[in-house]
Amino acid sequence: MNRVRTAVLISGRGSNMMALVEAAKDPAYPAEIVCVVSNRADAAGLDFALANGIATKLIEHKAYPSREAFEAALDAYLRSMKIGIIACAGFMRILTAGFIVGWEGRMINIHPSLLPAYKGLHTHERALADGAKTHGCTVHHVTAELDAGPIILQAEVPVLPGDTPETLSARVLKEEHRIYPEALAILARSLQPNTSI
Ligand code: GRF
Repeated sequence: MNRVRTAVLISGRGSNMMALVEAAKDPAYPAEIVCVVSNRADAAGLDFALANGIATKLIEHKAYPSREAFEAALDAYLRSMKIGIIACAGFMRILTAGFIVGWEGRMINIHPSLLPAYKGLHTHERALADGAKTHGCTVHHVTAELDAGPIILQAEVPVLPGDTPETLSARVLKEEHRIYPEALAILARSLQPNTSI
């Protein structure tokens, strides 16, 4: 089986990246995590990737004069690594249409809400402020419109009495770690019509 070469983009903690790496340790998993890219030197997830023998690459957006120059460096690195899928996992840079168009259909993201509800930041706080009864997470394709690409998988959790942003986000995060590896596998299989029998 040709496993799809996958890059995970992070900016911080990296717990979703860790879930993807753990899933991909199974040789039958259809994607292989070949590198973890961060735009921040202090991203804690980089240590985990290193400890797991995965190539890490720091491409600091601050080192580039423009968004386009940063994206050109990111694109060049990913192409040099012969990447088939980009999985954004807590990657806190908005990518421009110029970058996204070159990867459309092969770039996914995990978002902590039941899209189309609560696009953008502070999703748990906003769900609580609205008195939402349910909340959750979504894995979706990345398109030029923020948090609006085709949905691959969602998971719903209840909002419980007394929830704080912390308790709610912990409940959602558990589901993120479950559905992100499933969604990556769905995409990787779909890109692999010739997967061996
Ligand atoms: C997750 O909640 C993810 O849905 C959002 O950012 C957070 C990243 O967490 N996009 P981690 O770095 O994967 O632990």
